[in-house]
Amino acid sequence: MSAFQTSPGTRDILPPESARFRRFVDVFADLVEAAGYGLIIPPMFEDLGVFQRLGEATDVVTKEMYAFADRGGRQLALRPEQTASVVRAFVQHRPPTPWKAWYAGPNFRQERAQRGRYRQFDQVGIEILGADDPYLDVEVIALGWRFYAALGLRQVTLLLNSLGEPDDRARYTAALAAHFEANLDALSAESQQTLQRNPLRVLDSKRAQDAEIVAGAPHIADFYSDAAAAHFAAVQDGLGALDIPFVLDSKLVRGLDYYRRTTFEYQGATLDSAQNALGGGGRYDGLAEDLGGPATPGIGFALGVDRTLLACDDEGVFGPPPHAVDVFVVDTTGGREALMITDEVRAAGLRADRAYENRSMKSQMKAADRSGAAIAVLVGSDELAAGTVTVRPLRGDGEQRAVPRNELTSHLRKLLS
Ligand code: HAM
Repeated sequence: MSAFQTSPGTRDILPPESARFRRFVDVFADLVEAAGYGLIIPPMFEDLGVFQRLGEATDVVTKEMYAFADRGGRQLALRPEQTASVVRAFVQHRPPTPWKAWYAGPNFRQERAQRGRYRQFDQVGIEILGADDPYLDVEVIALGWRFYAALGLRQVTLLLNSLGEPDDRARYTAALAAHFEANLDALSAESQQTLQRNPLRVLDSKRAQDAEIVAGAPHIADFYSDAAAAHFAAVQDGLGALDIPFVLDSKLVRGLDYYRRTTFEYQGATLDSAQNALGGGGRYDGLAEDLGGPATPGIGFALGVDRTLLACDDEGVFGPPPHAVDVFVVDTTGGREALMITDEVRAAGLRADRAYENRSMKSQMKAADRSGAAIAVLVGSDELAAGTVTVRPLRGDGEQRAVPRNELTSHLRKLLS
């Protein structure tokens, strides 16, 4: 074992997995940029206070934050998510609204690591500030849904809920607390603790002991104001208009405190239930004000890249990795020819690699095979003297040919087209 290993909950993403990772972000970027979202790149750490707004009673803030003081005594934290950063950026720069932003990058939470749950994990996401329109909620939810389809992932379930207006949510939370208090002795010790911090989170309990009491809990729908009910009805109507299937889940409270009204989650079918949320989001109309800005409605989602890629692997979404290069140059004359030929071939827009250290023909041909290249370009002393190269197809049944050195790139282009 080497002296240093990645620390728990972090990992190296190597080829070919890294290629899937990039493809994921590329597909997402194409989709959301075509829908009017611009890229935002917030810093990976900022003032701890920005993230405390995620909720004093959430695990993300109380147990999982990588918080630290720098040498100047500033209280900082590695971002556990990016919504708070994007809203802080909105408040700081005040761009015209509606402001539509997308992002991609790592986040940090000190969780118990397991398959699909890491301490450094990547998300892609979108946020829109400054528009309060139920059909915007639908656009946002639909973009996530269309993204999974574009990626080729099929087994995704959309869960939908509304937490009502803040007043509705407060009355509901009080009713929930009363219900759980009345059944306190029957609740698991963990849920009794959760109840003290945040009664809503007890609904998330997966413990068998809690199942009956959770099932008998009051329903949020009975607490909606007229405005919240109308907003939620319009969201459902819009999803219906776009033929996007959803499952109403009144227990979907999400793990962060800033949500109001619409919340949603995309669930995968192949991962363990504790890790099956592929992505999620909702409205957070109070967050901008909370961060010192003007009252501004907001909505967005974040999708977990690592986790979704696991689901893609389970479904066999990605075929074999694409060939790394088109052309492999084998040079037994010292390597100077290979240096020039790869440079020229790359400049012509083709993908080219070569062997180093002037190895034997046999060893270089092995490397050519391993590279996955379709064509080998061979230079030996005979070719060098004649001003030619030998072009040998490595796949299919094409014939090997001597080609004048100055016609190489046009010849390769023809072969590869
Ligand atoms: P979240 O539900 O905490 O929401 O995270 C969104 C997604 O990130 C999850 O569904 C999951 O796929 C992935 N994820 C979260 N934690 C981990 C982890 N430890 N390891 C691997 N993947 C993980 C948010 O972060 C909100 N900012 C979403 C949002 C955007 N709401 C409004 N706008």
